[in-house]
Formats: sequence, C-alpha cells, structure tokens
Amino acid sequence: MKKTIIITGGAGFIGSHVVREFVLKYPGYHIVNLDALTYAGNLANLKDIENLTNYTFVKVDITDAEKVLSTFREYQPDGVIHLAAESHVDRSIADPLAFVMTNVIGTVNLLNAAKIIWEGNFEGKRFHHVSTDEVYGTLGETGLFTEETSYDPHSPYSASKASSDHFVRAYHDTYDFPVVLTNCSNNYGPNHFPEKLIPLCIHNILNNRPLPIYGDGKFTRDWLFVIDHAKAIDLVFHDGKLGESYNVGGFNEWQNIDLVNELCKQVDEKLKRPQGTAAKLITFVKDRPGHDFRYAIDASKINKELGYQPSVTFEEGLSKTIDWYLSNQDWLDQVASGEYQNYYQKQYQG
Ligand code: NAD
Ligand code: DAU
Repeated sequence: MKKTIIITGGAGFIGSHVVREFVLKYPGYHIVNLDALTYAGNLANLKDIENLTNYTFVKVDITDAEKVLSTFREYQPDGVIHLAAESHVDRSIADPLAFVMTNVIGTVNLLNAAKIIWEGNFEGKRFHHVSTDEVYGTLGETGLFTEETSYDPHSPYSASKASSDHFVRAYHDTYDFPVVLTNCSNNYGPNHFPEKLIPLCIHNILNNRPLPIYGDGKFTRDWLFVIDHAKAIDLVFHDGKLGESYNVGGFNEWQNIDLVNELCKQVDEKLKRPQGTAAKLITFVKDRPGHDFRYAIDASKINKELGYQPSVTFEEGLSKTIDWYLSNQDWLDQVASGEYQNYYQKQYQG
C-alpha cells in the first residue's frame, strides 16, 4: 500500500537531501514537503525532483496550528519526519523568540496534528524528530556525547531544540505516541546556507572577503556529510526502536582553524592558484557569546543496532562540497542577496 510521509523543512539544507533520498528511493511513497520557505528555505534545492509524481510541496508555517492540522487532514500522513526549524545559533542570540515559536511551538503543533488524525491508533505510524548534538551542551578536551549524556543546552537555539526533544519524548511517555529521535553532529555539503561556517568561508573566498574565525579558532566540531545524515534518517525512520534516540556522527572532529585551513588549501588547488592565497583572508574576530567549546558524537549505538556507517570520508565529502559550490555560484549569489546582506552587516560589521 502507498504510504504518505510529511517531511517538514524539506526546502532547507538537510531537508532537501532527505526529501530527494526518499522520493528517489521509495517510488511507492508519496512525499509531502511541508515548509514555510523562510530565508533558509529554497525550492531551487529540489529542482531535479520537483516534477516527480510522488512529490508534493505545500507552503505551511508550522507555528500556524490550524493550517498544520488542515494539511494533516488533507494528506493523512502515515509518517512525519520533522526537520523544520530555525537552525542558526548566531541568529538565535539576536532573536530567541523566533526559535521558541518555530522549534518549540511548531513541534508541538505537529505532534498535536499527528495525534489528532491518528486518533489513538498508532499501528504503522511514526513521528521522527530530527535534533542536534547541541542539546548535550559542550565537552572539554576529551569524551563523547552518548544517548545517555544529560541535556545541558547553552544557546537559545540549543535550548529550543532541547525543549522540542522533551516534548517529543513526553508525547511518547504520556500518550504512547510513536516517536523516534536522532541527534546529529554538524552537517556540511551542497545547498548549505552561507551563514554557516563552511559555506560562509567558500562564499567569502570567492568574493575575496575576510574569513571570520570566532575567538582563537580552537573550537571543535564533528562533521558529517549531509547525504550521510539523510541515510541515517532513512534507517532510523524505518528501523529505529520506538521511543528511542540515536546519535548520528562520523567520528570526524576538526578544530575550526584547521578545518578552514584545509578548505583554503583545497579551494586554491581547485582554482589552480598559489597555495596560501585563500588563507590570507583568515581573520580572527570577536567570539560568539556562550560558544560551546567542543562537540563530538559517539555514534556506536546506530552503528551496532542499525548497521549505520557514513559513506564518504571527510576529504571526499569536502572536495564534493567545494566542487558543488564552484559549479553553483548562481545558487550562492541568489541566496546571499537581499536579507542575507542585512544579516551579514549586523553580524560581522555591526
Ligand atoms: P535550515 O535552516 O537549512 O532549513 C530549515 C528549513 O525549515 C527551511 O526550509 C525553512 O524554510 C524551514 N522552516 C523554518 N521555520 C519554519 C516554520 N515556522 N514553518 C515551516 N518551515 C519552516 O536547517 P538545516 O540545517 O537543514 O537543519 C534541519 C534540521 O536539522 C533542524 O531541525 C536542525 O535543528 C537539525 N540539525 C541540523 C544540523 C546542521 O548541521 N545543520 C545538525 C543536526 C541537526
Ligand atoms: O552540531 C550541530 C549544529 O551544527 C546544528 O544543530 C546547527 O543547526 C548548525 O548550525 C551547527 O551549529 P554550529 O554553531 O556548530 O555551526 P556554525 O557553522 O554556525 O559554526 C561552526 C563553528 O564555527 C562554531 O564553533 C562557530 C564557528 N564559526 C562560525 C561562523 C558562522 C566561526 O568561527 N565563524 C563564523 O563566522
């Protein structure tokens, strides 16, 4: 029987890769991409699949409870994969309430709508909540986040994601509502909005602008290629145990300054310029308030229980990512016009 899956945030960075993975891999599923098209949402990310018969886009703001419910009534989804969110830490520092509205209230609206249309019969139904490793707070020089690590968020973004995770678990514990959660580390890859470190640096290198490194650049993140995150979501959505969370990562830690130096080296190579050209743009700037020192994921549960392994090494993934941006400069120029210029001015020159 044909299944209908609503994927929220499908016009964004990760969501667009999840939508593509599901539309192409499961011709028997009807994939409904539910997205408000905020500054971060872009239907150009899905140009290659937009005319396929098992794909539909609906423009819905998840903070609008009535519209969410009427959309769920119309499409009668068997499953929900929830990625829609305000996702950028620096924006959350400037405007926390927008993060509460979308990430907390929006998530509860989706939980309620699914609970109402499923009418207490959860057989064959699933709500997959896509979360982040930032809910665990920060690590020192050693250690890894496991699924048992206590929540300790520090930014308004991570506090809102932690809150949404708690609501998702509360629906499971209170109503026996069928949930699974994933908490993933930093993603990178094509279609990443240039407010985030890697695409921001690529965009700035191409425009000969400074590469702003917060603080001393020793902050550490654990990077996973976005298509490998989409594959993990596919696995957990189908085979994860109800009520459980799975950490997703690739055991791939980089200090920001080393990562940006590697990026500069690869861009110089690809543009056939003297080594050191891009790195001259590196500029240390004022640190992010409340900046978490280190994230690192222990991804052994998803590996042992579901056989998950990333498909590309970091070197391959970064090379593919740079190639994509070099071949898609129109995409970069389009998303970096308008609102982005105001954001950039306030964040880096304000
Ligand atoms: P993104 O900012 O690129 O995309 C977010 C999408 O959500 C956009 O298409 C936007 O239009 C949509 N959206 C925002 N507010 C909405 C609203 N009120 N109603 C409907 N749609 C709305 O985000 P991303 O980086 O792709 O992240 C997707 C999800 O994955 C988020 O939940 C994020 O917390 C989580 N996550 C991200 C990362 C990462 O490294 N980017 C890592 C782990 C988890
Ligand atoms: O860990 C998962 C999280 O990764 C996701 O939940 C978030 O949605 C996603 O945005 C990302 O959060 P980060 O804050 O880690 O990503 P960002 O790209 O903003 O920053 C990565 C690191 O680079 C961080 O230590 C801050 C630093 N940085 C960032 C920017 C934008 C800089 O040094 N300079 C910059 O200009």
